[in-house]
Amino acid sequence: MSLEDEFSDVIAKAMKGLEIEVEDLAKEAGVSPCEISGLLHGDMDEPSLRRISPVLGLDAEAVVALTKYVPVSLSLAGIRRIELPYRQWSVNAWLVEKDGSQILFDTGFGERDVVEAVSEEKLEAVLITHDHEDHVGGIDALESRGLRIISEVEAMKLGLLAFGSLKLRVVDLSGHKSPAVGYFIEGLAKPVLVPGDAIFAGSMGRCLSQSAYEMAFDTLREAFEGIPDDCVILPGHGPATTVGQEKVSNPFRSGFF
Ligand SMILES: [Fe+2]
Repeated sequence: MSLEDEFSDVIAKAMKGLEIEVEDLAKEAGVSPCEISGLLHGDMDEPSLRRISPVLGLDAEAVVALTKYVPVSLSLAGIRRIELPYRQWSVNAWLVEKDGSQILFDTGFGERDVVEAVSEEKLEAVLITHDHEDHVGGIDALESRGLRIISEVEAMKLGLLAFGSLKLRVVDLSGHKSPAVGYFIEGLAKPVLVPGDAIFAGSMGRCLSQSAYEMAFDTLREAFEGIPDDCVILPGHGPATTVGQEKVSNPFRSGFF
């Protein structure tokens, strides 16, 4: 079970989000542009990494520790991770079930991949976190079977949803994509958040501009207010994690906790 991002991806995302170029970062951090290029290519150079991290607003300890970050193995009754192919990567859809009520979060990239992975008879609805191709590719196939699809826009308008004893609270998680939503689920053994690509175990979704990056932090900070450490996070890519784990291990943590 590997993480979605390596330290080089985290650096690239922070640079993109801050719109800072290699030369400027090198100057500010007191390292050479060559050393930064090396880091971006995945060559571990701990002293340089520790120098550039604070300039990028990243927690240096957490970035360095990413190579040793072992995702916690979470098996929570009623939750199934469906890892689907997306080009040379993968993307998650999450199936959540309680007392016969079953809901699906996101649909993967391939048209038919998710349909083949779930049993539609039990599905009550399909909830979308954000409209990126790797999360909505299966919508048509599911819709043509009469399933109710709730887009991120509709979900945001509804605010609260209920499926049997599962209660959902919709939160704005715009930033990586706008609009984008997250779903807090009540009714399982632990509180659960399905955040789409807003946050990953040890990372977060890429933001395409500085304003989008700031928005991602703002919406995440607001969403996490008052949320307990044992809240389970089911991200759009990579393994599940918890709020408590990300408070310690996520290099971007100071931005949203
Ligand atoms: Fe995305």
